[in-house]
Amino acid sequence: MVSKKTGFAIIGTGNIGRVHALAIQSIPEASLITVYDLQISQSQKIAQEFSVPAAKSLTNIITNPAIDVVSICTPSGTHAELAIPLAQSGKHLFVEKPLDIKLERIDNMINAAKAAGVIITGILPSRFRDGIQKTYQAIQTGRLGKLVLITGSIKWFRSDEYYRGSWRGTWELDGGGALMNQSIHTIDLVQWLGGPIDSIYGKTATLRHRIQAEDTGTALIEFKNGAQGIIQGATSCWPGDPARIEIHGTEGTIVLEEGRIVRWELKNAPEDEQNTMLALEKDSFGGSRDPMGISPDLHKRQLVDLIDAIHSNRQPLIMGEEARKAVEIILAIYQSSQTGRKIQLPL
Ligand SMILES: NC(=O)c1ccc[n+]([C@@H]2O[C@H](COP(=O)([O-])OP(=O)(O)OC[C@H]3O[C@@H](n4cnc5c(N)ncnc54)[C@H](O)[C@@H]3O)[C@@H](O)[C@H]2O)c1
Repeated sequence: MVSKKTGFAIIGTGNIGRVHALAIQSIPEASLITVYDLQISQSQKIAQEFSVPAAKSLTNIITNPAIDVVSICTPSGTHAELAIPLAQSGKHLFVEKPLDIKLERIDNMINAAKAAGVIITGILPSRFRDGIQKTYQAIQTGRLGKLVLITGSIKWFRSDEYYRGSWRGTWELDGGGALMNQSIHTIDLVQWLGGPIDSIYGKTATLRHRIQAEDTGTALIEFKNGAQGIIQGATSCWPGDPARIEIHGTEGTIVLEEGRIVRWELKNAPEDEQNTMLALEKDSFGGSRDPMGISPDLHKRQLVDLIDAIHSNRQPLIMGEEARKAVEIILAIYQSSQTGRKIQLPL
C-alpha cells in the first residue's frame, strides 16, 4: 500500500514525453511535479497542458525533494549524460528505450544507480502486454516443448517528414536507425521469449530514406538453447505492417501481432484456451505506421510496476541490466554488417 504519492519529473517533452505525462496523470499513486525541456517553448506547452510548473534547468529537478522519479524522454544519445547526475542525486530513473546507444555509457548509468541505491528501469512496455506475458509463461513452463524457430518482423514505415531535420536516424543521437529506434521493442521480446542469444549474423542497409543509419536490417540468430531465429526490422516498408513474432517449438506454435496473440496452438491445450488467448487484448497500441499512434496504457503498466517496486523494496520487471540486452544485440548486428562476420555475444 503506497502512503505518499510518488513524485515525477519528465525531461524531454516531445513526442513520448507527452505520453509519459498522460500515463503519470492516469495513476492515482503518482503525481507529476514538473517538466523540463531544452526548448523552453516546448516545456511550457506541456506544463500548461498538464497544469504543472516548467522547470528552468536540470538543477531545479536535482534539488527538488518532491521528485522521486525522473522520466528521461530526450533523444537516445543524451540519456546517460542526464541519468548519471540524477541517479547520483538520489532520483529513481524511468528511461526511454534504448537506455543509451553505447554499452559503456549504459554500464556507467547502471553503476551510478547501484552506487546511489536507486532503481534504473529501461522502458520496454511491450513486455507488459497480456499476450506477451501469457506467451512467456507458456514457454517458461515448457508448454511449447523445445524451442526451434523464432521470427521477429518489424516491417514498419516512417515518412520523409519524420526524419527531416531531426535527430532520428543519426548515429550521434539515435545510435542507429530502424533497428535501434523502432525495432528495439520486438528485438527485446525475441531475446526475452527465446532466451539468451549466442551469436548473430546481420546485414543492414539504407534503402528508402536519406538518413545516416539503416532503414532496413536482417539478422540470423542462434540462441544458446539451440533454437534459430530471424529478425527483420525496417522503416522502409510502405504502408507498414504490425510487428509480428512467430515462436515455434516441438510442442506448439504461438504468433503475435503488436503483442496480441493471433495464433495459439499448443499440444494438449485445454478446450477453449485458444479462444481465450485470441480474445485477450483488442487494442493494438501500435506505431507500425504512425509514430504518434502510441497509447499511454502500456507505459502506465510499466510505471505501476516501478512505483510498486519502489515502495515494496523489490526490483521492477525491467532493470537496467535487462534493458541493456536489446542494445547489445542491435550493436552486434551493426558490427556484423560492417565486418561481414558472425558476432559472438557478449560483445
Ligand atoms: N517507448 C516508446 O514507444 C517510444 C516512442 C517514441 C520515442 N521513444 C524514445 O523516447 C526518446 C525521445 O523520443 P521522441 O520521439 O519523444 O523525441 P522528440 O524529438 O519528439 O522529443 C525529444 C525532446 O527532448 C528535448 N531535448 C533534447 N535534448 C535535451 C536535453 N539535453 N535536456 C532536455 N531536453 C532535451 C528536445 O527539445 C525535444 O523536445 C528517444 O529515446 C526515443 O527512442 C520511445
